[in-house]
Amino acid sequence: MRILTGAILAGLISTTGAFADPVDDKLVLNEETEMVVRTAAPAHVSETLDEVMSGWLFRGEETRAMQMDDFDNPGMIFVEQGQDSWAAVDGSEGKSCSSCHNDMDSMAGVKATYPKWNAEAGEVRTLQMQVNACRTERMGADAWKYDSGTAINMEAALASVSRGMPVNVAIDGPAQSMWEKGKELYYTRTGQLELSCANCHEDSYGMMIRADHLSQGQINGFPVYRLKNTKLNGSHSRFKGCIRDTRAETYSPGSEEFVALELYVASRGNGLSVEGPSIRN
Ligand code: HEC
Ligand code: HEC
Repeated sequence: MRILTGAILAGLISTTGAFADPVDDKLVLNEETEMVVRTAAPAHVSETLDEVMSGWLFRGEETRAMQMDDFDNPGMIFVEQGQDSWAAVDGSEGKSCSSCHNDMDSMAGVKATYPKWNAEAGEVRTLQMQVNACRTERMGADAWKYDSGTAINMEAALASVSRGMPVNVAIDGPAQSMWEKGKELYYTRTGQLELSCANCHEDSYGMMIRADHLSQGQINGFPVYRLKNTKLNGSHSRFKGCIRDTRAETYSPGSEEFVALELYVASRGNGLSVEGPSIRN
């Protein structure tokens, strides 16, 4: 099994040139906010990684530059749309998000802590789940479809006011069992290629896979504006794409499996700055 996986990976990964290191570059947002794009690995991943690194370090110069200035970042258009729906009245109670939460700035720091245990509901909630709980339970409005444009725009707007703050997801206490579940998924080999997330993003980051420079698969930059599909993408949609690339059946955005995986992957980036909306290929 190990040999087989090795052979498949060796076939996918280009061995021309040496290990292509991440660039040595600094991400300063709007000439103002210095982001942490690499830092010592949090204790719970330090057995396998010394450092954790943002996907930004693995992108080309132009893509990196687009993310340095909000005027050049196409993801910011969607942030504005999210801000518009923040202020829009919706549902039977005649309320908007701002009726209860005032300015979007009141949400500074929130994105950095999600997914997060919600004691009242007795579940780990992603930010999108929390927003939908407010919509259905407090506004009398319909839930937004998971990872749909409206939901992602709101997530991006919420992320944008936390940019530069360190990801700080709690993995102990009542969240621990979901975290364990996410960890198990991360190390499970799937599909005909029998590859796990770790085979690519932990064992092989820095290498080229087809035309792509493999990163650590961190989610501190989500939602992500992808040049490939010119829209914002949620982390669950990215997980789905990666699992599909191993030629496996996969889970749906919003599924319990992906909530667990989001918690686990987010925790691997504890200490990196919140970057959303970031720009990737
Ligand atoms: C009727 C009042 C009300 C409205 C309207 C409302 N919320 Fe909330 N929201 C709350 C309350 C109360 C909490 C905290 C309690 C909880 O966890 O449910 C909360 C919690 C949150 C949190 C989590 C904050 C944290 O620190 O973890 C987010 C994010 C959020 N709301 C977003 C929204 C968005 C986006 C909308 C509009 C789509 C919205 N809310 C509409 C009352 C409201
Ligand atoms: C066959 C190798 C492979 C496997 C297996 C794989 N990925 Fe990926 N993944 C990629 C490639 C290639 C990219 C695009 C380049 C990059 O950002 O690493 C990517 C990108 C990502 C990104 C975007 C990172 C960013 O900064 O935008 C995330 C998150 C991610 N993967 C998570 C996962 C998770 C979680 C799993 C397991 C369910 C997984 N991947 C499995 C190859 C893989």
